[in-house]
Amino acid sequence: MPTVLVINGPNLGRLGSREPEVYGTATLEDLRAACDATAAELGLNVDFRQTDDESQLIAWVHEAADGQLPIVLNPAAFTHYSYALRDALAMRTAPLVEVHISNPAAREEFRHVSVVAAVADGTIAGFGFASYQLALRAIAGLLPSDG
Ligand code: DQA
Repeated sequence: MPTVLVINGPNLGRLGSREPEVYGTATLEDLRAACDATAAELGLNVDFRQTDDESQLIAWVHEAADGQLPIVLNPAAFTHYSYALRDALAMRTAPLVEVHISNPAAREEFRHVSVVAAVADGTIAGFGFASYQLALRAIAGLLPSDG
């Protein structure tokens, strides 16, 4: 069964209590469960991670490149300014979908720029946790079929 890394950036460990009017009241563990359920439907295995640390995020992206693992990535605030993360993602060897729970385009101006979007296959934003479920479906469609 193919493994997909689902990687979450800074402050997403606080889902549930973080700005519930923007991100809802469900927790990161609820998000993990939603991803696991969708992955099971799609015949995928999810390796679900979160860090607040840019260097850890980059190390995971390198690991994915070395292992040819697809990624669903919510870079959180790093989306808007981390050229180091973008450079790491540019080395990818498998599909990459950028996701956001909220719709950054409808929020503050600094969120309108994504420095990682151009190195992803695509971006899904604004659908709450369903953004991740849609991204897993997109990944499933991008993976070579074994038949
Ligand atoms: C976010 C949007 C980003 O602008 C913000 O910095 C986040 C979360 C989202 O999922 O909506 O931390 O990536």
